[in-house]
Amino acid sequence: MFSYKQAIKQLSLLLCSGLLLFGGPLQAEKFDNLAMTPPMGWNSWNDFRCEVDEKMLRETIDAMVSSGMRDAGYEYVNIDDCWHGERDAQGFIQENKQRFPSGMKALADYAHSKGLKLGIYSDAGWQTCARFPGSRGHEFQDAQVYASWGIDYLKYDWCYSEGLNAEGAYQTMREALHQAGRPILFSICEWGESKPWEWAKDVGHLWRTTGDIYACWDCENKFPTWSTWGVLKILDMQEGLRKYAGPGHWNDPDMLEVGNGLSYEQDRSHFALWAMLAAPLIAGNDIRHMSEQTKAILTNKGIIAVNQDAMGIQAFRLKSYSDNDNLQIWFKPLENGDWAMAVLNRGEDTENFRFDWRQQQVKDDLFQHDAAFDKANYRITDLWTNKELGQTLQQTTEVQIKSHDTFIVRLAKI
Ligand code: GLA
Repeated sequence: MFSYKQAIKQLSLLLCSGLLLFGGPLQAEKFDNLAMTPPMGWNSWNDFRCEVDEKMLRETIDAMVSSGMRDAGYEYVNIDDCWHGERDAQGFIQENKQRFPSGMKALADYAHSKGLKLGIYSDAGWQTCARFPGSRGHEFQDAQVYASWGIDYLKYDWCYSEGLNAEGAYQTMREALHQAGRPILFSICEWGESKPWEWAKDVGHLWRTTGDIYACWDCENKFPTWSTWGVLKILDMQEGLRKYAGPGHWNDPDMLEVGNGLSYEQDRSHFALWAMLAAPLIAGNDIRHMSEQTKAILTNKGIIAVNQDAMGIQAFRLKSYSDNDNLQIWFKPLENGDWAMAVLNRGEDTENFRFDWRQQQVKDDLFQHDAAFDKANYRITDLWTNKELGQTLQQTTEVQIKSHDTFIVRLAKI
């Protein structure tokens, strides 16, 4: 006879398999093997805001190729807010037909024909931040539409999400994307509010750690309930987060403002430090009309190689160095025993930086790498000039660093 105990066992087995099949913790997966190094690309928001249309995007795709950005590693062309039209009678989202008369699929095809990928933007709440339709209640339809258009990257925002649980809302979209079947890189943009670094590793490929960046150095722009932040402020907010990042799951300190009005030195620092942080390198300037200086910063091969290093370890700050309060030193362990070092001058004057390698203990306790500068020898290359500066066992490095500039070197193990 079927006993009471057996019935309970059957029921719990059923429940367990149901959980596994329909929405249980093991069922949904994010796409693996995407963003094994920090994503690189461009996004419309920082410079164009809502002024997005197919003409500008096609020109940007062309400029990605002609400027050398694509060949430097920038891959994704991402349309941020405001591309949306209305949902159709069945609830499927459509592009704004005035702005995108040829349709989103044609734009994705064009990007693909140039060896690039196309990204799009939506929101976990009922509306996007610019009040276009959000994906809430339409997640599976939206993911299907993006996949049918040939979209490769989704930035998923957090406006108008009152009452929603962030982890659950982002998991739902992860499931929707997975079910739609096209490998779409999933960028979580909830501004670090619910500490996504603690739960998002298996949900998305990157997560914003802060509120929005803006093109300012050490600034806070206050609104009644939120703020936007300058480069230094965002840098300081990354403290303590390096242990959460790695291949396939990155901390995102927001998109680049290089070329958007900071000084030359500030632009260099912003880029070098984001590279050291293993941050996504998503340019946010008008690359159709950028200066040679801006282009040189954004396409610096040596610094990009530091960012794209296969180990995917975020830099740490050398706190023992206290020669000068204005200088901050960062170290990033790289493949094959190499290291990168960046020295930021936060102060208002040029500083003299002097570093006797043999006297410094540089050790990454978290990821267990030891530079052993007292024993091992490294060839030093200045990544801005590409000039060799000697070897660590043979000399003390001494350079002048301008106000707000960053000196950055690669140390190649000999
Ligand atoms: C939020 C995001 C930004 C941008 C805007 C678009 O503020 O954090 O990066 O996508 O929305 O409205």
